[in-house]
Amino acid sequence: MSAEALVGIDLQGKLKRVASGKVRDVFEIDSETLLFVASDRISAYDVIMKNGIPGKGALLTAMSAFWFNYLTTALPHLRTHFLSLSLPPSLSTLPPDLTAQLQPRSMQVRRYQILPLESIVRGYITGSAWKEYTTHGTVHGIPMPAGLREGERLQKPIWTPSTKAEAGQKDENISPEKAAEMVGADHASQIASLSLELYTAAAAHALAAGIVLADTKFEFGLDESTSPPSIVLADEVLTPDSSRFWPADTYVDNIGRAQPSYDKQYLRDWLTAQGKKGVEGVEVPEEVVRKTGEKYREAFERITGGVWGA
Ligand SMILES: Nc1ncnc2c1ncn2[C@@H]1O[C@H](COP(=O)(O)OP(=O)(O)OP(=O)(O)O)[C@@H](O)[C@H]1O
Ligand SMILES: [Mg+2]
Repeated sequence: MSAEALVGIDLQGKLKRVASGKVRDVFEIDSETLLFVASDRISAYDVIMKNGIPGKGALLTAMSAFWFNYLTTALPHLRTHFLSLSLPPSLSTLPPDLTAQLQPRSMQVRRYQILPLESIVRGYITGSAWKEYTTHGTVHGIPMPAGLREGERLQKPIWTPSTKAEAGQKDENISPEKAAEMVGADHASQIASLSLELYTAAAAHALAAGIVLADTKFEFGLDESTSPPSIVLADEVLTPDSSRFWPADTYVDNIGRAQPSYDKQYLRDWLTAQGKKGVEGVEVPEEVVRKTGEKYREAFERITGGVWGA
């Protein structure tokens, strides 16, 4: 990965910034098109670190692009918002060194109205689902069999939506029934079945590459130019920022406790050991940056079958 991390995205005012998330900045190219630019920022326990992971934004962009391509081949009825990995002509006058930084981390997508749901699919019980299960025996209100252990594979993947909270707020896990009330039964059932199909295709591919896809989150847009309006896969897909990737070879030994994860394990362990969990603006030491970068790269190479930077 390149030596310097890019944590702030500056397009010198050439495009209007419409959103700035924990990792990505979103710009308007025109009324129908957005530019997603992934920075090298990294967050853990819901706060962003002061320094980033060099090359992470480019890697995440390439990984999403890989999945858009893979999934449209695997599921011919799938429609996605992906347009291209090129920069728009309006950025052609930027200095060459800035262009070189932006190019590999940018993606043009078609703009849609996003359905206000995080469409989560879980194949394994962990995270907030595990917490709910230990207190209520349910996951997003869905009754689950007794005796599951932390990290255990579910009999079948389940669709477990959450609300899409405003910036700074926390998403709330909801039942599929509640999701149907929010977006309409028809849209809810379409995105539930599409999400399960996407998860199943992606999890099989990941597992063959030595990675357990424990859970993931999709977002969908609504294309109102068709009749009836159609559901389009939007946002980022199946990156370590939107999914839990676990190494398959140590999975069984770790059932019953927290699994090591592909993305932020070193960072989380280090923050916990330093008593800096949830603290804003922490500077991460070089060693943790390097090891975290290696893990992202390993996940990328396993999943795409390519060599990062080649
Ligand atoms: N095709 C699209 N058209 C319009 N908006 C989109 C499209 N795809 C994704 N979005 C929205 O663009 C935003 C992407 O921003 P990003 O994911 O970086 O930030 P965030 O979700 O607000 O915060 P974070 O992911 O850091 O919690 C999200 O609000 C997402 O719903
Ligand atoms: Mg997001």
